[in-house]
Amino acid sequence: MSKNICFIDGLEGVLKYREVDINELVELPYDAVSYLLIRGELPGEQELAEYSARLHAEREINREVMDIIRMCNFNIDAMEVLRTVISFISQFDPNLNDSSPEGNMRKAIRLIAIVPTIVAAYYRVSNGKEPVPPDPSLSHGANFLYMIKGSKPDPLEAEVMEKDFILSAEHELNASTFSSRVTASTLSDLYSAVVSGLCTLKGPLHGGARAEVMNMLEDVASPENAEKFVLEKIEKREKIMGFGHRVYKTYDPRGTIFKQLSRKLAESKGDMHWYATAEAIENTVVRELVEKRGKPIYPNVDFYSGVIYKYMEIPPQLATSIFAIGRISGWIAHCFDQYEKKKIIRPRAFMLDEC
Ligand code: CMC
Repeated sequence: MSKNICFIDGLEGVLKYREVDINELVELPYDAVSYLLIRGELPGEQELAEYSARLHAEREINREVMDIIRMCNFNIDAMEVLRTVISFISQFDPNLNDSSPEGNMRKAIRLIAIVPTIVAAYYRVSNGKEPVPPDPSLSHGANFLYMIKGSKPDPLEAEVMEKDFILSAEHELNASTFSSRVTASTLSDLYSAVVSGLCTLKGPLHGGARAEVMNMLEDVASPENAEKFVLEKIEKREKIMGFGHRVYKTYDPRGTIFKQLSRKLAESKGDMHWYATAEAIENTVVRELVEKRGKPIYPNVDFYSGVIYKYMEIPPQLATSIFAIGRISGWIAHCFDQYEKKKIIRPRAFMLDEC
């Protein structure tokens, strides 16, 4: 059932994928969480080894895909590239029109495996560097950082990246998952459903908020400026990026874990600057909006993840696409569920008034 994929208690700040709490999930490898979402239960040791081996074997991109990546304008957000390339690569998939569960599983594995390689290749090429081929011996998170930086990542950064993918993997019927499900509900193929999800995730009120948070941290520049910045935003009735949520009316549990991770990174680098700037923004927002005005505006998943990217020297152009790398397993879990239903999603226009 669709509701079994994810459980959110927006008042208590609880999040579970397939009945497993996010605080437990974050200690697992991303591959295990991906398996859980798509297959419905946690893998045993042997099942995880097989699933990881299949994922790791599908990471490479072919020459035609590299040609497309090289043709992209190098000042655009990686989401534009991802959206284009995923559309393009469907033609190479021998299972494109095989909608059996096995055919869909093969497509799912290819998609989950290849998205990080596309993002990393674009990043390298757009910076005048040669792409780094994936390393099948590395985890999803470590391999992504390796393909971006061209050297084996620091173990803490690799761990944080892996956890980022897990925290971003699934969140019930958010806008991009809904888009993917609507596409799947027409029995369109999995590539099309993932492209729909990408197009929707991109917007600044959804996954695009992460890049906006990074830009905001640059604008605020130091903890001393945070209060003035937030007060001016409130005065002008402008939204502060990385805060607020349609479902959570308390702290977003993913945001809390991201905050702990960003502190750990800051301490390991001996540089509290971005963490302190973010915390000063958070403290002012909570004081002004929650405590004084009674609005439930807390940091969401996009706030401290933006801080993490500052420490890892990941540019804003990659922020949303990193969200997509994690979220693709959730989209696919929902698409599989929708394929089983064999029922088109066709709401009536009056329902939009309640959104
Ligand atoms: N900063 C300041 N005020 C806010 C914020 C914010 N970030 N978010 C909501 N509010 C206020 C808003 O101005 C409104 O006040 P009033 O009732 O006086 O007009 C009230 O809270 C309700 O806001 P809303 O926009 O009607 O709430 P919503 O449930 O429709 O929107 C949201 C949820 C996430 C789109 C919104 O909080 C927002 O735009 N946040 C900033 C963008 C952001 O961080 N997005 C990431 C969302 S979480 C991860 C994801 O989905 O990707």
